[in-house]
Amino acid sequence: MKEIIINGGKTLSGNISIGGAKNSVVALIPAALLSSDICNINKVPNISDKDALIDILNILNVKTNFENTSVTIDSTNLKNTIIPEDLSQKLRASYYFMGVLLAKFKHVEMYFPGGCNIGTRPIDLHLKGFEALGAKISHNEKTHIYTLDAQELIGTRIKLDFASVGATINIMFAACLASGTTILENAAKEIEIINIADFLNNMGAKIKGAGTSTITIEGVKKLKGATIDVIPDRIEAGTYLMIGAMIGDNLSVCGIEPSQLKALFDKFDDMGIKYKISDDKVTISKCNNILPINIKTLVYPGFPTDLGQPISVLLTQANGTSYFEETIWENRMQHVKYLNMMGANIKLQDNTHSIINGPTKLKGCHINATDLRGGAALVMAGLIAEGTTTISNIEYILRGYENLINKLSKVGADIKIIDV
Ligand code: EPZ
Repeated sequence: MKEIIINGGKTLSGNISIGGAKNSVVALIPAALLSSDICNINKVPNISDKDALIDILNILNVKTNFENTSVTIDSTNLKNTIIPEDLSQKLRASYYFMGVLLAKFKHVEMYFPGGCNIGTRPIDLHLKGFEALGAKISHNEKTHIYTLDAQELIGTRIKLDFASVGATINIMFAACLASGTTILENAAKEIEIINIADFLNNMGAKIKGAGTSTITIEGVKKLKGATIDVIPDRIEAGTYLMIGAMIGDNLSVCGIEPSQLKALFDKFDDMGIKYKISDDKVTISKCNNILPINIKTLVYPGFPTDLGQPISVLLTQANGTSYFEETIWENRMQHVKYLNMMGANIKLQDNTHSIINGPTKLKGCHINATDLRGGAALVMAGLIAEGTTTISNIEYILRGYENLINKLSKVGADIKIIDV
């Protein structure tokens, strides 16, 4: 079993380069199968979620070839076979193959997707969208297999009950090869959706309004091969910037699109944290008087839920009491127990509200990652803590933070992965 071991208290300076966005690439790779030709995706991050998706492509007889961070995907011999449950369970984004295979073959059999245990994570909004387009859906309670069948997919008006990122993307997939036009209302506005719509439009899809709450998808008969660059990972970037605000000395986070981090910079401004933006780089140093604030996670362009657990570590260093509310997921506070074990003073009011008192001196100890962003929060705590921190269940963290050890060691952290 592997663990991360950190000797905390080091000052971090130098450059950290940001990789492609996990929450883009996990949709871009399945999207390539909508094309009847060869596609190229550049700036693919080196994360384990990517590896899980490539395993699924192999099952579907899709050829892939990696060169550095570029992958060529050849789905000309795509086979509509059932994806084994263990693979579907490896990540939440396996559900994107539902929309893709439904669009291509009008028949899908799939297990319920996996993903971090941050809530029940239903897919009812995805299924409602597919039904609106004409799919008949059955679910076998015993085998947990969903079967989707459609004579034809016909464009229609769909209004999401919640601005779900996954459902927005999945319905886009199913609608782009449907006959007629689909108008998707209350669509999610996260910037990763624009990245995916750009890829589909490069293939010849006719999608307008991505990034707004109403997306129009005019169905086409066929999609050709295309190329796309994965946009930078704003959540990876935000995580490193918060580390810089606690222990940085001119720590620069490079290769990012600063405008995508406006929600975080607004909070930095409220917290009195200084940072310097230049082109695709933001430089930040330790702030000696972090002001307490209130945080409420929201859909884009609000404060992203995926930075909620990381910012809770930053707030343990603020001078005063901060109030935190998670509004997207119902079980995203499992990291709190471990931060308190290290000396933080966080009161959990319930599964979505906490009161964070600071500043508190954190001391290293043995802790467990419980999910991806909660695990990242524990790494942050270990970096600022006095003494040694060991973190188990690190596979959660490696799902979404590429080359984490290398990137942090390069700027001065004393961090490594050990076999225990
Ligand atoms: C995406 O998850 C991201 N994952 C999540 O990031 C992110 O937290 C989330 O969007 C919100 O921004 C990927 O893109 C792979 P949702 P997704 O559908 O699409 C409810 C990370 O750390 N809901 O927007 O699954 C759901 O229960 C991960 O990188 C339904 O009720 O999120 C939740 O309360 C974690 N029915 C809310 O909507 C549905 O059919 C948000 O879900 C779908 C969702």
